[in-house]
Amino acid sequence: MPLSDYQTALVTGASSGIGAATVERLCAAGLQVHALARSAPQLQQLAERTGCIPHAIDVTDLPAVTALTQEVAFDIVVNNAGVDRPGSLLAADADGIDLLIDVNLRAVLQLCRLTLPGMVQRDRGHIVNISSIAGAYHFGGNSTYHATKAAVHMLLRQLRIDALGRRVRVTEICPGRVATDIFAHVHGDSTDTQARFVEGFELPQAGDIADAIAFAIQAPIAVNVGLIELMPTLQVPGGLTTLRPGDVAR
Ligand SMILES: NC(=O)c1ccc[n+]([C@@H]2O[C@H](COP(=O)([O-])OP(=O)(O)OC[C@H]3O[C@@H](n4cnc5c(N)ncnc54)[C@H](OP(=O)(O)O)[C@@H]3O)[C@@H](O)[C@H]2O)c1
Repeated sequence: MPLSDYQTALVTGASSGIGAATVERLCAAGLQVHALARSAPQLQQLAERTGCIPHAIDVTDLPAVTALTQEVAFDIVVNNAGVDRPGSLLAADADGIDLLIDVNLRAVLQLCRLTLPGMVQRDRGHIVNISSIAGAYHFGGNSTYHATKAAVHMLLRQLRIDALGRRVRVTEICPGRVATDIFAHVHGDSTDTQARFVEGFELPQAGDIADAIAFAIQAPIAVNVGLIELMPTLQVPGGLTTLRPGDVAR
């Protein structure tokens, strides 16, 4: 179906990266797009460029998010806002765990709770959640991030069941590494970070992920695109590590 069969969309984490590209893609298709993030200046620039409606709101601010969902009946909700903290659980701090749960999981659950019933009632709607290959595979990284993204994966499966019988579609977009500022946001904006995660790699761009989201939304109404995994061609997950007692993991 044409994207414009839907009228309104909400994209969280819209001030940069995948969220901003998604706002741009949906605005270009003629939808009224509400862009949510904390950074007001970036949202304002995005609004001037695309015509989206900016909302400088923290996605964990439940009263503000509730008020927005009561004002607008969203046809499309893209749960994209996400954060990470580097390091394994051995070095994790309590605040980091709370932050990841709050932004990556609690806010997603709350926004689904606030918008899914209206979609079910109207027999029309599409929820898109951005997870990560961290929710599907194990590799060196942040265990809390992996846990929150795995939870988002399972939530999507459950939403399909919750909405069964209505034309409400649910899509998980599961990216591997994408060339966005997430690495600067997590590891600090330095040449070191660029060299470690971006420079010289052939990576999907934010617009490629936005195109995948648009593909799922544009599918005929009888088709629910449940899961799209997008990774760099030159990236694979997995591996097996076996140590002797006392060996140090690398
Ligand atoms: N890039 C990758 O390699 C990759 C891979 C797999 C999955 N992902 C996932 O893709 C999604 C988008 O990531 P990205 O790469 O585009 O990263 P990004 O450039 O760092 O964007 C993250 C967005 O989330 C917003 N955000 C963070 N905390 C927020 C909060 N409390 N309230 C509202 N908005 C908040 C940020 O805006 P403000 O700071 O202005 O609030 C920003 O717009 C995330 O869920 C991420 O986990 C990314």
